Amino acid sequence: MNKIEIKEEIDRLIREIEFHNHLYYIESKPQISDYEFDLLLKRLQDLENEYSEFAYSYSPTKRVGGDITKKFETVVHRFPMLSLSNTYAEDEIIEWENRIKKITSDEIEYVCELKYDGVAIGIRYENGNMVKAITRGDGIQGEDVTNNVKTIRTIPLRLKGDFPLDFEIRGEIFMPHDVFKRLNKEREEIGEPLFANPRNTASGTLKMQDSAVVSARNLDSYLYGMYGDNLIFDNHFSAVEKAGEWGFKIPPAPKRFIEKSNSIKGIMDFIHYWDKERYNLPFEIDGVVIKVNDYKTQKELGFTAKSPRWAIAFKFKAERVETLLQSVSYQVGRTGAITPVANLMPVALGGTMVKRASLHNQDQIEKLNLFVGDTVYIEKGGEIIPKVVGVNFMKRSADASPIIFVTNCPDCKSLLVRKEGEAQHYCPNEDFCPTQIKGKLEHFIGRKAMNIEGLGAETIDLLFEKGYLNSISDLYDLQFDQIVNLEGMAEKSANNLLQGLQDSKMVPFSRVLFAMGIRHVGETVAKKLVNHFENIHALSDASKEELMEVDEIGEKIADSIISYFLNPNHLKTLDKLISVGLQFQNEKKLNQSNKLEGKTFVVSGVFETFSRDEIKLLIEENGGKNVGSISSKTSFVIAGDNMGPSKLKKAEDLNISIINEEDFRRMIS
Ligand code: IVH
Repeated sequence: MNKIEIKEEIDRLIREIEFHNHLYYIESKPQISDYEFDLLLKRLQDLENEYSEFAYSYSPTKRVGGDITKKFETVVHRFPMLSLSNTYAEDEIIEWENRIKKITSDEIEYVCELKYDGVAIGIRYENGNMVKAITRGDGIQGEDVTNNVKTIRTIPLRLKGDFPLDFEIRGEIFMPHDVFKRLNKEREEIGEPLFANPRNTASGTLKMQDSAVVSARNLDSYLYGMYGDNLIFDNHFSAVEKAGEWGFKIPPAPKRFIEKSNSIKGIMDFIHYWDKERYNLPFEIDGVVIKVNDYKTQKELGFTAKSPRWAIAFKFKAERVETLLQSVSYQVGRTGAITPVANLMPVALGGTMVKRASLHNQDQIEKLNLFVGDTVYIEKGGEIIPKVVGVNFMKRSADASPIIFVTNCPDCKSLLVRKEGEAQHYCPNEDFCPTQIKGKLEHFIGRKAMNIEGLGAETIDLLFEKGYLNSISDLYDLQFDQIVNLEGMAEKSANNLLQGLQDSKMVPFSRVLFAMGIRHVGETVAKKLVNHFENIHALSDASKEELMEVDEIGEKIADSIISYFLNPNHLKTLDKLISVGLQFQNEKKLNQSNKLEGKTFVVSGVFETFSRDEIKLLIEENGGKNVGSISSKTSFVIAGDNMGPSKLKKAEDLNISIINEEDFRRMIS
């Protein structure tokens, strides 16, 4: 391809990726698989790596992250970022509306919106391209977090349609409940302390240094305000609608996320509706915002020192109930972390019955000054796990007793340890504590780890009780007779399980490493380690300093890896896993060969088992080169169905070998 063709190909890929991004993230109607999408992205990234002059700031590859920002630059806001006056009382909304009616004689229309509970952001676009994204900071100046904001799929990197040439759009970045839950589940699995709530997590995420980690966290956004010198609309509602046309994710009116109203009754109706419905939203809101729609009237009403007079927030009180703390029990995680759990007198809260709540750790219990027998306050927002937020000391009875944190593991009775600087207590008996062994086995067979078909927690329990399993490597010693004789097992399910174990020998190294259950080594860290170290030997021999050279690997993770490989029991398990044939070699390097070195390919048409991009990827992975058009230098044309007749003729004229999918497969196998 010449430079013009390369540029055209890059432009085409960007348009195609933008199109699928919009379908996936904004319309929730994807047309291609994630895999196909990743291939498009990889093709674009490769071209941009090779031809950096065509690596545009708006390219969707920028969303994947990877830029490390050591320090965020402080930037002064062009328009100060004010806050909203707010109230918890309906009367004050009525008073606000009355005040407005006195100031202006215009007929007033209001826009009611959700008050998203996240982090405010101001994003500037010039000529339709995102140039800067700044946090609120103190309202006068904020931090430049552009690289991180670029990873948020619902915020366009470049706009379409009739956008103003220079403007700023403001909105809220938040973490949806399912993402927050998934993140905490992952943290629980690797023995990390849990995040407290989605808002703080979104805020912390936005200030992370590695934008690749931000990208993986799936933040989301809604936009709610437009700022600029020559904006073309005359009211807020049309500005939001317009933003939708330019490619922003805007609040859907049919779902009542945004609504026009011209009466206090309409406003109250909106407030009452969301006070109940907020629990069914996939993200957290802490109230609703009422704004005067017309910009001219907004101007007339003006601002106080801190907030606009034309808007007010009605905040919802977090729903809080009282109940009795009956007892505290202690759970043992697979890494040995001990979590205290409050057993409560069942109470209705936010649409569900609450019976238990996590107390996190000893410090939290002490901070709350909690006694067994206390009447406690429980709060819950959205789908978040209920929390004990305080004690009603007026109701503390004489027979309430202080909570004495357990000293021994509730399962194996080992003396618990608490490392300096850590909040969590641990059971140190990691290789013999039954709960930890079973937890490690369950983690090992899990979907994101070895994904072993036909094996679940109950079977693990039964096999453990029989004494067949004492470590993860024992799984590969299981015999048909041992399995088939278990309660509820039949011949077919026993065979399935054995086949599942057999199949797991093909699971790639990064997932095997994750499955091994090293404390603090989650999916992402495992991938980073595998990318850096070619095989398990290189990893287990690495020094602390060498480990810390890997992106995002700090002292805590490095220490944990070192101590894992110093434990003779772990080494024995590992030797066994190696000898049964699990993958301990970097999978990328496995796929690669130089079989196609020096050969140039043109891929054309539609294929049966591969997509065009998959074939192109395989060509590159095996040392070959892709080109866009046929010339005398082309070694092979890989032809699928519907290949254009002119291409076919050109290949024939130049006497170039035309091969099909099957021939190609043989070439690289
Ligand atoms: S309008 C002049 N609309 O609430 C202020 N803010 O307490 C313009 N927020 O900093 C803000 N949802 O982070 C507006 N629909 C919404 C909002 C919203 C959430 C946040 C925003 C702001 C804070 C004000």
